Amino acid sequence: MARKKIIAGNWKMNKTPSQAAELIKELIPVVKDSDADVVICTPAIDLSVATEMTKGTNIAVGAENMHWEESGAYTGEIAADMLLDLGVQYVIIGHSERREYFAETDETVNKKVRKALEKGITPIMCCGETLEQREAGVMAEHIRMQIKLDMAEINADDAKKVVIAYEPIWAIGTGKTATADQAEEVCALIRETIKELYDAPTAEAIRIQYGGSMNASNAAELLSKPNIDGGLIGGASLKAPDFSKITNWNK
Ligand code: PGA
Repeated sequence: MARKKIIAGNWKMNKTPSQAAELIKELIPVVKDSDADVVICTPAIDLSVATEMTKGTNIAVGAENMHWEESGAYTGEIAADMLLDLGVQYVIIGHSERREYFAETDETVNKKVRKALEKGITPIMCCGETLEQREAGVMAEHIRMQIKLDMAEINADDAKKVVIAYEPIWAIGTGKTATADQAEEVCALIRETIKELYDAPTAEAIRIQYGGSMNASNAAELLSKPNIDGGLIGGASLKAPDFSKITNWNK
């Protein structure tokens, strides 16, 4: 069975609730005919307005992070049940900016992915190498290690539900996109790693996105590659015409 593409916006720390409402109003009519699953991942404070406004549309809403505990004394954190209560369906886990600036490790990423799966929220689990790692020739080892650690103790049925986002750190917000061939090579490597960890059906089912300066002009080529099942889009997801071009890459 062909994998359905998934195009997700990662708004990062952008848009106040009222600005979010404006952008969502613009987005609804221009992404409605997409053949992909369309997701917007917004700051926590925008989730309420986002879930409310997108009811009955083809836009699903995701958070950009969550905690792995049920509830309790974790000031400033957000639990899975809080997201579920609003109707949030996706959560980005382990984005490189969270690993770099907020001390997330493969261990905490794994805990969060497991909690999201337990709760029925689809994790968009991020991995990717730095430029130094790529130049030192350890990109493949690094990616394989991240996938193995981040997917630890997750069974094959659950693994199929995970969306993996391959985001080379050197391509995020830099305007430097990986070439479609570079992106395809690593997405294929990730699928191969999943096959080793689980089996061929799991590897065939799991969806792997590319992220890192994906935009209206390069999306179609990236999305034409056999192992690239979608995109995680930062900058270009904040402009309705650009995000619409990506969600309609095949039109
Ligand atoms: P970018 O960000 O599209 O602005 O490069 C992608 C991401 O970090 O998810």
